[in-house]
Amino acid sequence: MTSKIDYIDKIPNNVDLGRDRVLQRALEHWQPAYMGWWYDMGPNESHNYDVYLRTAISVDPEGWAVFDYIKMPQYRWGIFLVPPTAGREVNFGVNKGQPAWQDVPGEYRSMLRRLIVTQGDTEPASVEQQRMLGMCAPSLYDLRNIYQVNVEEGRHLWAMVYLLHRYFGRDGREEAEALLDRRSGDVDNPRILGAFNEPTPDWLAFYMFTFFTDRDGKFQLSSLAESGFDPLARTCRFMLTEEAHHMFVGETGVGRIVQRTAEVMAENKIDDPDHARALGVIDLHTVQRYLNFHYSVTLDLFGGDVSSNAASFYTTGLKGRYEETKIDDDHMLGDATYNVGTVRDGRVVDEQIAALNALNERLRDDYIGEVQAGVERWNKVIEKTGIPFRLRLPHKGFHRQIGNFAGFHISPEGDVLTEAQWNAKRDEWLPSRSDYTFVQAMMTGRVVEPGKFANWIAPPRRGVHTQPIDFEYVRFN
Ligand SMILES: [Fe+2]
Ligand SMILES: [Fe+2]
Repeated sequence: MTSKIDYIDKIPNNVDLGRDRVLQRALEHWQPAYMGWWYDMGPNESHNYDVYLRTAISVDPEGWAVFDYIKMPQYRWGIFLVPPTAGREVNFGVNKGQPAWQDVPGEYRSMLRRLIVTQGDTEPASVEQQRMLGMCAPSLYDLRNIYQVNVEEGRHLWAMVYLLHRYFGRDGREEAEALLDRRSGDVDNPRILGAFNEPTPDWLAFYMFTFFTDRDGKFQLSSLAESGFDPLARTCRFMLTEEAHHMFVGETGVGRIVQRTAEVMAENKIDDPDHARALGVIDLHTVQRYLNFHYSVTLDLFGGDVSSNAASFYTTGLKGRYEETKIDDDHMLGDATYNVGTVRDGRVVDEQIAALNALNERLRDDYIGEVQAGVERWNKVIEKTGIPFRLRLPHKGFHRQIGNFAGFHISPEGDVLTEAQWNAKRDEWLPSRSDYTFVQAMMTGRVVEPGKFANWIAPPRRGVHTQPIDFEYVRFN
């Protein structure tokens, strides 16, 4: 019995876990299964390393990021909700004005469970996708950062499992187990969403993923943080504090790669970006192709442009718009309309549809605004070196598998092409087998000397927390 209580004590939480027998019993089964999953599918060969990580031990400003060396299997995955807001109401949809739900409304139970499971499934998926990358990290600083992202995605899984265990009884427990059974890319039992079954084969892909795909996470969590189901709203609100770091890792990672490439081009007076490869850096055309890939598969994650599911999630009050309460309208969307792109007579045109059915598209547009700003910041980095190359986002309809553009062959400029025309250009627009081979050949070993960086990436501007760049962020033992 003592050991049980010990491990409950080791789970930092603000949900009164020590007194919640139902939750304790559910976790007694799930926690060992989770550890089994971490040993199998967590970062390869990392279990004995001491890693300089932050752990959330409370939701206070001093407690949410405590830094120390830790072995990842001993990471204290905790359960946190931001403190409740007194008098909080359902802020949109037909239930607007009711007190926010503290329990699952019976009629919305399966819809709500589906939202939680879909979000929860992405968390372990990304850990699985990234598990081999530690073997070829460009520095101890970067190695530590990927491990930080991985343990926090693990905690995000815990956050969703908490909701399943606490509020959904037996079927919640079954869903929690299934979250540990699916595997990214598995033929028989894959993860739920497409982008989470794509491999993340190298560090350029990892940074693109954390910039583009973790940001989809941010927008999904932000909409769920508006939920009328208060425990979900408060859980997601806390997850967003961690998500910000993941996107920082992605943005600065890509930024440091393009900085290094552009600096090497400028030093060697190279005009043709394709000649950069010979100097041991990643040419900017390849960076653009990775960008095109990760952007387009992430756009698909927002779902169909016209979606009755999204309308139901909104009308019921379960999933809001991005920053719902800051929007100045009736929060019902009865008569409102929204523009979505579609293909007609061989051209991309705008079409006005009911705003209620266009909520996926609206969230996608909010997302695009933010990634556009990030791409401009990368371009500033290139501009400073005097190299004229600029990165850009392809057209929204480029390389889409879901929504109005699926089934069409749209160029990065937004022209509707034939399949043959598109295929002839494919390797100019998306990473080819030889691009992946080239990038991976550059990332064969890992750089383990503190303060040293692989040739293809610039050092960061500062270290982690208060530490210098040449700090020993990971000890291999
Ligand atoms: Fe996450
Ligand atoms: Fe994340």
